[in-house]
Order: sequence, then C-alpha cells, then structure tokens
Amino acid sequence: MERWKTIIEPFRIHSVEPIRLSTREERAARLNEAGYNLFDLHADDVIIDLLTDSGTGAMSRDQWAGIQRGDESYAGSPSWFTFRDAVHQLFPFKHIIPTHQGRAAEKILFSVLGAPGKVVPNNTHFDTTRANAEATGAEAIDLTPSHEPGTRLPFKGDMDVAALERLIDERGRDAIPVVFVTVTNNSMGGQPVSMANLRAVRAVCDRHDLPLFLDACRFAENAWFIRQREKGYESTPIPDIVREMASLADGMTMSAKKDGLANIGGWLAMNDDSLAERCRTLLILTEGFPTYGGLAGRDLEAIAQGLAEVVEEDYLRYRITSTAYLGDALAESGVPVIEPIGGHAVYIDARALLPHIPPLQYPGQALACALYVEGGIRSCEIGTVMFGLHPDGTESPAAMDLVRLAIPRRTYTQSHVDYVIEVVRFVAKRSAELRGLRIVAAPAQLRHFTARFEPLS
Ligand code: F0G
Repeated sequence: MERWKTIIEPFRIHSVEPIRLSTREERAARLNEAGYNLFDLHADDVIIDLLTDSGTGAMSRDQWAGIQRGDESYAGSPSWFTFRDAVHQLFPFKHIIPTHQGRAAEKILFSVLGAPGKVVPNNTHFDTTRANAEATGAEAIDLTPSHEPGTRLPFKGDMDVAALERLIDERGRDAIPVVFVTVTNNSMGGQPVSMANLRAVRAVCDRHDLPLFLDACRFAENAWFIRQREKGYESTPIPDIVREMASLADGMTMSAKKDGLANIGGWLAMNDDSLAERCRTLLILTEGFPTYGGLAGRDLEAIAQGLAEVVEEDYLRYRITSTAYLGDALAESGVPVIEPIGGHAVYIDARALLPHIPPLQYPGQALACALYVEGGIRSCEIGTVMFGLHPDGTESPAAMDLVRLAIPRRTYTQSHVDYVIEVVRFVAKRSAELRGLRIVAAPAQLRHFTARFEPLS
C-alpha cells in the first residue's frame, strides 16, 4: 500500500449531484448582477464551490442510515444518547450540550461568561467567536505571533504563551473568564496547534486558576498534524491524540459542520457543574431542550456517525494530503500561498500576487472575482474587504489580503482539484491584467457579506 504515491479518495461515489457547467460569458454577467460579491451568486451558477468547508461536505452511507434511524422524541431520544456517547468517547467532558451550530455554543457560553471589562484571549478568534465575545462588551484578543506567509513552521497555529502571561499580568486574572485555543487556527491559515503548546497554555491557566476551552471545529485535522509533526506521537492512534487534547481543557465549543462531518450541528461541553447549569438554562431559551439543542434527532445521529468516521486514518491521510496537493501545486507554479499548507484550505496571498493593486482597491476581491469569471470557482476574500472597515467608519488595509480556497469534506475528486489548479495558474499568469474594485454600497458592519462593488478601469 505504502509504495503508491497517488492518494486516492477512500470512498466510492454513491449518490451523484450534478454540476452545471456555465460559460465565461454567463459567469461575467452573473458576477456583474451580483455586484461583484460572490456571496450574492446563486450556488448553481458556481462550478467548484470553495467558499467554505462548513456544512458543505458529503455524508456517508452510514450517516444517511443514521438519518433514517433518527428518533424525534422531544426529550430523552435514543438519538441523543447515541450523540452524547459519541462525543464523550472523544471529549470526555462531564456536560455535553447540543446546539444547532458552533456560533450558538459561543453565544451561550459568552452570554454567561462575558461582560464589559472582561478580556477573552484566543490564539486567533474566528469572526463569530470574536463577535459573540464582543457582543457582551468583553474584549477579544488574538495571541498568535505574526509569521510571514511563506515561513514553514510545523505549528504556526500555536498560541504565544509569553503574550498570554503578559496579558494576565496586565489585566489581572479576574478580568479573564476563559482562555480559548482554536484548533486548527482557521484565521491564520488552518495551521495546527501542537500538544506541547496546549500543555504550556494549560500550565499557565493552572498557575492562575483559569479555565481553558478549545474551539475544536477542526480537531481531527489538528490531531493528524500532531501525529505527523510532533515527536512522540508518530504511532499514537488519532482518538488517543484527540482525548489528550481534550484532557488539557476544561471545556469546548464545536461546530459539527466541520470535523463532525455533518451539514449542521454543534455543541458546548464542560466539566464545571454550575457553568453547565447556567448554559443549559440559556439553551432552553434559545435552542431547545437539553437533549436535542437546536437539532433534530436525525442530525444527532449523523453527527455521532461522523465523529466515528472523521478520526479514521485513511480519511485523514486523504484529507490532509489532498489539501496539500492543491496548495503545493500552486506554490510550485509560483503562486504565493501560506505555507505550510493548512488542513482545510489553501490561502493565496493576493497582495503578493497583485502588487499593482493597493489594499484599498481590494486585491483579494479582484482575485476571487477573476477565479469565478475564468473558471466558475467560488472562493472567499479574507482581507481588507472583511477586516478593513472600523466601527468609526474609517478604513485601513487589513494585515493581509488573502483568498481562501476551502475544501468541502469528501465532496470533490482529484480531477476537480486539478481543474482548480489549472484555473488558478491561468489567472496568476495574467495577474498584471487584473484591476481593483471600489465599494459602491455597504452596510455599517460585516460588509463582506453584502457589499456591492464596481471594477476600476
Ligand atoms: N470557530 C471556528 C474556528 C470556525 O471556523 C467557525 C466557522 C466557527 C467557530 C463557527 O461555527 O459556522 O457552525 O457557527 N467557520 C466557517 C468558515 C463558517 O467558513 O470558516 P458555525
């Protein structure tokens, strides 16, 4: 087996979803109608949809069987116990609280823990995590050291432990209700966090008696990287690595739309009894009774089965290798990407690829639009459009202008990925011809979802 270099998809296709193949002319017209905002496209006008890896994956035969088995009793459904046991198997926290997706878990947790004057440190907050912490008046602080996009380090997602110590010294431990570590570090390029770093953060939390929570959306991908890159884990089974990560934390938030291999779902888990009681009370107000959260019994079954499949080695090897296949092919042809390649996505450095487009003319958006027009590929700008607008209405360049190609799980084949490589290379070759954009209409907040643009000539 090991002698073959080609990593095949470890599944056969069982149910076929058609892709409508559009023409360049059609796509140019659709993009114009959408105000050059890819969120405003109809998904069936997209050929390869790499907007997100969240909830966009394909479920397995056994997950669909679980959907049939789903029991829709309001309280105490057998599907709840199946779900609870599957989560508990990997994350043995005392309290497991289902929610309809990750941000619902964040909203509940921060409603209990956040308040004006509080500070929440994280290696890097995902947007909804930041927004939910800030919505309570708390301050959300990122503590990942800044690395050059091309610097190849094995655990670029790690938290800066010295910066965490300084923050605790400056603000005082009472200002910090919880310390978060996001695995993998999505906003920093899907980069993993090492077990050594989790242990070091744990030690700081212990010294100051602070709770540590994981934002565990991509826990299995992170565990695979630990096994591949961290000394001492070469032959540790993935579920054991996951349990060790969990053993270093006091709780977690989770979006089952990523490494739950499901299309919807999430949970909140913790050991603290009184915190759990307060969270459950809020859960009943906003999500539902504690044995279903915001989910149907069938969703609970799909997640339980997804958790068994996501820690399988053949799956994870294929998953991580196929993401690297795309990223490495782009890097080899001179397209600047964040390296090493992360777990769930490839991030193109649009600012480096399009130096003639200033950040305030949105090089990431220009590249994302070109990938759509040329090849029908939908990606996501993560740069000045997303982060450049400040609450006072002023605008400045974001730290980076990236375009994320996020890979849905078990959905596209290698020939789809080869097509993406060909299209990106084609666009990169003609990058000097690309022009920036200006914003013609935008809301006061979260403008990347709804802003309308006009190309500059
Ligand atoms: N935490 C991280 C690290 C995430 O990447 C996401 C979602 C969430 C929390 C929120 O989970 O969507 O279930 O409410 N990330 C998606 C993305 C949307 O495209 O990266 P959710």
